[in-house]
Parts: sequence; C-alpha cells; structure tokens
Amino acid sequence: MGETVLVTGGAGYIGSHTALALIKAGHQVVVLDNYVNSKPGALDVVSDITGESIVVVEGDATDVDLVEKVLRDNNVTAVIHMAALKAVGESVDMPLEYYRNNLESCMATLEAMRNAEVWKFVFSSSATVYGDPDVCPIPETASIGATNPYGMTKEMIEVIIRDLAASDDRWKITSLRYFNPVGAHESGRISEAPVGRPNNLMPMIMEVATGKRDKVMVFGDDWPTPDGTGVRDYIHIMDLVEGHVSALEYLDDQDGYDVYNLGQGRGTSVLELIAAVEEATGLTIPYEVTDRRAGDIAECTADPTKANEVLGWKTTRTTADACRDAWNSQQL
Ligand code: WQD
Repeated sequence: MGETVLVTGGAGYIGSHTALALIKAGHQVVVLDNYVNSKPGALDVVSDITGESIVVVEGDATDVDLVEKVLRDNNVTAVIHMAALKAVGESVDMPLEYYRNNLESCMATLEAMRNAEVWKFVFSSSATVYGDPDVCPIPETASIGATNPYGMTKEMIEVIIRDLAASDDRWKITSLRYFNPVGAHESGRISEAPVGRPNNLMPMIMEVATGKRDKVMVFGDDWPTPDGTGVRDYIHIMDLVEGHVSALEYLDDQDGYDVYNLGQGRGTSVLELIAAVEEATGLTIPYEVTDRRAGDIAECTADPTKANEVLGWKTTRTTADACRDAWNSQQL
C-alpha cells in the first residue's frame, strides 16, 4: 500500500528527483517548498513524466501550523525532510542563518508531525558530518566531526532526531548521509540548476561544457591522492533518491532511529571526473589548477555496505552514466 509522503524542499534538485522516484514506486507525493533555492517548474515536469499529480504548497517548513495543516489536509503518512540551506562556503559566512533555518525547519516539521500523529521521518543528512574522515571508505560507525556550520546543522539534527526517537517508540526515523549527488533523470527534463555560481564540481564542469565558463578551476593537485586532486564518491541522483524509497519502505520494519550512507563505494578524482565528462560529451574541458579551497579534504568515499545489506539497496548506475545524464539534461 503506497504512502502519502510530504517532501519538504521537494522542488529542489534532489527533492524533485525524489518525488519522481516515490511516484514510480507507487506512493503519493505532497511538496512544501519556499522556492528560496528552487523553481516550481521541476514538479510540473515530474507530473508530466509520471502522469501523476503532486500537491504543491508554497511555504516555509519553519511554520509549524502550516506544516501541520499540510499533513492533515493530505492525510500524509510519512515525511522526507530536505528543506535546508546547503552551501558549505555560504554557511561559513552566514552561520546564524544556517543554524536558525536548518534547525528550526526540522524541529518545526517534527513538532507538526507529532501534533498530527505522523511518525515516519526520513532526514536528508550528509557525509559532511564525518568532517575529515579517519577512515576511507567511511562506515556509519566512523567518528563524526563536521568542520563547517552547514555540516554541523546536519550533525546537530541527527542528535535531535536520535533523541526524539528514543523518547517515544512511535517514532520511526532514518538519517541518510549523502555523498556527492550528480547527474539527472534519464529524460533530461529535471536537472541541477544552481542559482548563481555553482558551488559543486559537476555543475561547474557542465557550465564549462555548455560554454558559460571558459575553464574549471581545480582546487589543488597536491592532495595525498593518486593524481593529487580531491577524491569524492559521486552517486547518480537516481540511485540516491531510490535509496530514499528503500529507506522509507523499510521504516515499518525498523525500530526507532537508524542511519545509512548513500554512496557508490568508489572514489573519483577531480581530474577523473573531468575526463569522464570529456568522454561522455566528446568535448575538451579546459581546467587550471589553483590553490586548495578552504575546508576541503583529500578524500570522502562511502562504505555503503549497511544500506546494501539492511535496506536491500545498492547503486546500479556508474559515474559515466551520471556524466551522460548530466550532459543530456543540459541539452533541453
Ligand atoms: C568536490 C571536489 C573540490 C569545485 C559538497 C558539500 C557536501 C555535499 C556535496 C550537501 C572537491 C573539487 C569543486 C570546483 C574543484 N553537499 N572542486 N573545483 O565539497 O565534496 O561536498 O557538496 O550535502 O555537503 O560539502 O563537493 O563538488 O564542492 O567538490 O576542484 O570548482 O571537487 O575541491 O575535491 P564537496 P564539491
């Protein structure tokens, strides 16, 4: 029997792909979004692709009464919480806004859920909570230590929801620690469309590929990695969002709180990703090596064993698939 799932922040890059995956898995979707980092159009495309309507409410997840009304009006049975500010660099410059928005929107959503007696909650967390990992690939048991305000909001929320789940056994709560989401749905009709200068590597490469920028700035080639450039676990967005469906559907069998990494389990360097995009597009992607970016780390790759074994979820798409689909999404 399908769930009726509220996706807060559901109009964004990950949120709109999540709505698509939920509908394809037979669930109904309700979205609450304030459009601070997204546009309504993505959900119209999802409805067009799936042939299913999506209830979309414009508003802020910090508004307890609004969230409670959305839950009750739509008979919501579970929530996937994605509404958050998410730029690491910006969070260093604006810590108060990040702590206030990210913590308040999550706590308000949880308070509204308790009022409406909705107990299934999937939280969009991040590998950033690991900070500079002491082991790679990183298991969920690795030490936690965010090194920027954005990551600290995720770390603090994980503590809040762990304690909430321990306080009342009606709660069923999961944190999903994303590694580096890339790519787009194979239709190419929903994509990552960062507002302003992209923070992340793949959208930056795409802007060079489409001629919006003349080269990729490679933040350091003196890291302790095979080719000296930063290594990350780039997970295809569709694998990532299918992981949310698996985690949601597992909640009925889960007691209390749990946490899972969502990553491929293999690392790709900056230069390797540039080469993979060149292979996928047939283009040359110019780059220039510059200084390291403040706060960066050498490597961050997932050990996805727990999600593989407990959720029965694993990635099925390659980094080359993600490069192809990212490029495809730039053509429409
Ligand atoms: C990847 C690699 C850079 C841009 C961030 C957040 C994380 C998550 C994913 C939200 C690094 C290098 C990048 C560029 C470069 N977001 N790079 N030139 O920093 O691993 O993770 O996004 O949850 O929380 O921290 O991703 O794409 O910014 O960087 O050389 O123009 O590419 O140094 O090695 P990151 P990224």
